[in-house]
Amino acid sequence: MIEFADVSRIFMVGGQEVPALRNINLHLVAGEYVSIMGPSGSGKSTLLNLIGLLDRPSSGMYRLDGLDVTTLDDEHQAQVRREKIGFVFQFFHLVPRLSAAMNIELPLILAGVPPQERKERVGQLLESYGLADRAGHRPDQLSGGQRQRVAIARATIMRPAVLLADEPTGNLDQTTGKEVMSLLEQLVGQGVALILVTHDPALGQRAARQLQMVDGRIVSDTRNISQA
Ligand SMILES: Nc1ncnc2c1ncn2[C@@H]1O[C@H](COP(=O)(O)OP(=O)(O)OP(=O)(O)O)[C@@H](O)[C@H]1O
Ligand SMILES: [Mg+2]
Repeated sequence: MIEFADVSRIFMVGGQEVPALRNINLHLVAGEYVSIMGPSGSGKSTLLNLIGLLDRPSSGMYRLDGLDVTTLDDEHQAQVRREKIGFVFQFFHLVPRLSAAMNIELPLILAGVPPQERKERVGQLLESYGLADRAGHRPDQLSGGQRQRVAIARATIMRPAVLLADEPTGNLDQTTGKEVMSLLEQLVGQGVALILVTHDPALGQRAARQLQMVDGRIVSDTRNISQA
């Protein structure tokens, strides 16, 4: 599903080259549960942003479902992103002035889904994520766990094939973090591919496949054999 061939990402800062990713070769299949670990600055978020079409490689090729997405123009890339990819971040990235329900509804509006269907789909997700009684609350009127559940609902309302999560529990207490993880893992059970960046080895171990990054390279790629 996701294929990286010799992908590099070099940032230019004040005339200096900062190589964030160096010749990444990677193949992820549909429905896979993968964790990415590694020290700060090793390129985890950069890799996730490239997979999510929020950024472009400096060189190399990225194929998504067989399509070379590196050469698409911005508009076409945005369309692929909306259809196939969901994002969950450490700091939620919700729209502050919009209610929980409106935050979840946004991707449907952008995709041109008619109002009646939007209402039904948002209502279903609010219900299944235990947020029905918080629909009208703004993000600042929600707990951290509730905010992240709104963010997950927003990320999944377009039924993406891939969910990218950059430290989704990094800003939550342990119990709330576990709830959020079990929600994300339920989605894996439903066939969504989950790519999880985490600093927590215990969390990383839960994934069926683990990537380790150091200095812009994938230095290890292992699989759990006995994984429930
Ligand atoms: N927009 C940018 N401009 C310049 N350099 C950048 C940019 N984004 C990232 N970098 C650099 O690229 C490298 C990789 O950064 P990245 O954010 O991918 O690391 P990370 O593994 O996600 O780290 P952390 O665990 O701290 O989130 C770092 O050296 C960083 O300074
Ligand atoms: Mg990061």
